[in-house]
Amino acid sequence: MYKIAVAGTGYVGLVAGVCFAEMGHKVTCVDIDENKIKVMKSGISPIYETGLEELMKKNYEAGRIDYTTDYQLAYQEANAVFLGVGTPELPDGSANLSYIATVARQVAESVEKDCLVVVKSTVPVGTNDKVDRFIQDFLVNDVHVEVASNPEFLAQGSAVEDTLHAERVIIGTESEWAENLLKKIYAPFDLPIVSVNRRSAEMIKYASNDFLALKISYMNDIANLCELVGADVQDVASGMSYDKRIGAKFLNAGIGYGGSCFPKDTKALEHLAREHHYDLKTVKAAIDVNNVQKTALFKKARNRLITFSGLKVAILGLTFKPGTDDLRESPSLDNIPLLLDQGADIYAYDPVGVKNFADIYSEGDFSQGSIKYVKSVEEALLNANVCFIFTEWNEIKQLTPQQYKKLMRTPLVFDGRNIYPTISMAQEGVEYHSIGRKT
Ligand code: UGA
Repeated sequence: MYKIAVAGTGYVGLVAGVCFAEMGHKVTCVDIDENKIKVMKSGISPIYETGLEELMKKNYEAGRIDYTTDYQLAYQEANAVFLGVGTPELPDGSANLSYIATVARQVAESVEKDCLVVVKSTVPVGTNDKVDRFIQDFLVNDVHVEVASNPEFLAQGSAVEDTLHAERVIIGTESEWAENLLKKIYAPFDLPIVSVNRRSAEMIKYASNDFLALKISYMNDIANLCELVGADVQDVASGMSYDKRIGAKFLNAGIGYGGSCFPKDTKALEHLAREHHYDLKTVKAAIDVNNVQKTALFKKARNRLITFSGLKVAILGLTFKPGTDDLRESPSLDNIPLLLDQGADIYAYDPVGVKNFADIYSEGDFSQGSIKYVKSVEEALLNANVCFIFTEWNEIKQLTPQQYKKLMRTPLVFDGRNIYPTISMAQEGVEYHSIGRKT
C-alpha cells in the first residue's frame, strides 16, 4: 500500500485516484476548486461516469480516499504524485502546459520524502524531461524526486472499467527506482505492463490516439466515396473487420470524431512535427477530413430543404458520444449554429447533455431561429419537419421507423451515426439520409 496524491480531479485524475483507492492505496485527490472538493466529499461525482460514484462512496467510507485543496499536506507525505491536470489546446494547436508547471512547482516546494511524480496528462514528447529539470530547480528539501510518464488510455463513458481492466499500462521511466516503484503501485491491478523510456511513453499516447483518429477519418473518407459509387460503408466496414490486422473497432463512419482528446491530440502531434520541420501528412489528412465531415450532414440537409426557416427541427443527441455529458468538440456545436443561422426552430433532446449545452446556448429566441430543450425523444419529434441525429444514445437507437413516421409532420431524418437499417426506414416511408449509405 502506497500513499498517493493525485493532482486534478477531471476524468483522468479522479478516475485514477478512485481506482488506486479501490486497489488498496491511500489516496488524496487535490484540486484548486473548493466547491468541487466539498461536492466530492459528500460522495457526488463532478463528472458523469458509469460506476464512479459508487466507488467514490465505497472508498471514502473505507478511509482510502480523501479530497483536499491543501496541496502541501497532500504532497509532502506522498510516495507518488500523479498528475492528471488538463493540457488544453492553444490557438496554434500546441498543448498548454501551464497547469502541469504549476503542479510541478507545488510538488517541488512541498515534498519532504523521496517521491515519484507521475504524469498521466497527455503531453508533447520531451515535456516530462523538462518537468523533471523544472522540479530539480525548485526542490526545497534534500530528497529524491523523479518524473515518470504513465499516459492514460481510458475513454469517457467507460473510464472506470477501462482503468481497472486496461489492455495495457504504459510506464515511461529513466531509472530502475522509478520503474520498480510504478510496477509495485500497479501490481494489485494485475495488468500487462509495458516499460519504456519517458519519451517513448509520451509518444505511445499520441501515436495511439492519432491512429484511432486516422482510422475514423479514413472510414469517413471511404464513406463519402461509398455514397458516390453506390456502396454501403457499413457493409464495407463489416467486410474489413474480419481481417484481424484491421480489427472490428473504430470503423464506424459518421459525423466526425469529437471529444477532448482526438481533436486536441491530432493537432498537438502535427504541431510537434512542424516544430521539428517535419510534415506529418497522415495526421494532417485526418484533421482535414474530420473538419469537413462534421458539417457534411448539414450540407446534405440544406441541399434537400433549401432553408430551415420556420421549420421545427428535432435534434437527438448533443454530446460528442453516448455515456458522457461532455460537449467538447461535439459535432452538435458545429451544426446547431448553422441551423440557427438558417432560422431553424430547434427542439433538442439529450439524456444528460442539456445542462451543459444550455450554458452555451440558453433556451429561447435568437436573432434567427430558436432553441427549446425537451425531456423526451417523442417531444422532440412531435410535429417536426426534419430530424438530426448527432449522438447514438441507446434510447435513440431503440426508436422504430414507425415512431418517426407517426410523430413527425414530415418523416425526414438525417442520421450522423448510421443507427438504423436504411431498408426498414424506407419500408415505413421515412426519408432517411445517413453517412456512406444509399438513401
Ligand atoms: C479517446 C481514446 O479512445 C482513449 O483511449 C483515450 O484515453 C482518450 O481519447 C484520451 O486521450 O483521454 P474518448 O475521447 O473518450 O477517448 O472517446 P472515444 O470513444 O475514443 O471517441 C472519440 C470520438 O470518436 C467520438 O466522437 C466518437 O463518436 C468518435 N468515433 C469513435 C467515431 O466516429 N467512430 C468510431 O468508430 C469510433
